[in-house]
Amino acid sequence: MLNKLVELHKQCFPDRPWSENDFMDLKKSGCEILASDNGFIVWRTVAGEAEIITIGVAPNARRNGVAGAMILLMEQELKKQSVHKVFLEVSKVNYPAKNLYEKYGFLPVGTRPKYYDGIDAIIMQKEL
Ligand SMILES: CC(C)(COP(=O)(O)OP(=O)(O)OC[C@H]1O[C@@H](n2cnc3c(N)ncnc32)[C@H](O)[C@@H]1OP(=O)(O)O)[C@@H](O)C(=O)NCCC(=O)NCCS
Repeated sequence: MLNKLVELHKQCFPDRPWSENDFMDLKKSGCEILASDNGFIVWRTVAGEAEIITIGVAPNARRNGVAGAMILLMEQELKKQSVHKVFLEVSKVNYPAKNLYEKYGFLPVGTRPKYYDGIDAIIMQKEL
């Protein structure tokens, strides 16, 4: 399963693939990982607030609602844990991801200048 996740991550982020150890380190540090054959989402909750660390869907499975469904599942889990705020950072030029987050109700609340190799990150937030 872990090797499938590594392969899927490489398809989604070919410039910065994560290893099995990277995923195991995330688990050890308290991150939650929800994964299927087509997609994954990783988040972490600190001091009652969650942060989406990453989300990805296999290129051949995109635009079928997989990412949206994973966000909704994550939100269900967070609500069960009484977590009512989610943050994330997204590159200002990652239009698919920005649109995805907007569609699911995330609002921009700030920017981190030149956060991704010289490109600004937008900080987005959603109240659950
Ligand atoms: C961003 C990503 C996770 C979206 O996954 P997905 O399963 O295709 O998303 P969904 O099918 O749930 O799409 C939901 C909404 O997101 C937006 N969206 C998704 N892909 C889009 C695209 N290529 N262009 C514009 N908007 C897009 C749309 O608003 C879409 O709703 P619609 O289909 O009703 O128009 C996927 O493109 C991906 O893995 N990208 C590479 C990794 C990445 O950049 N992750 C985000 C890091 S912050």
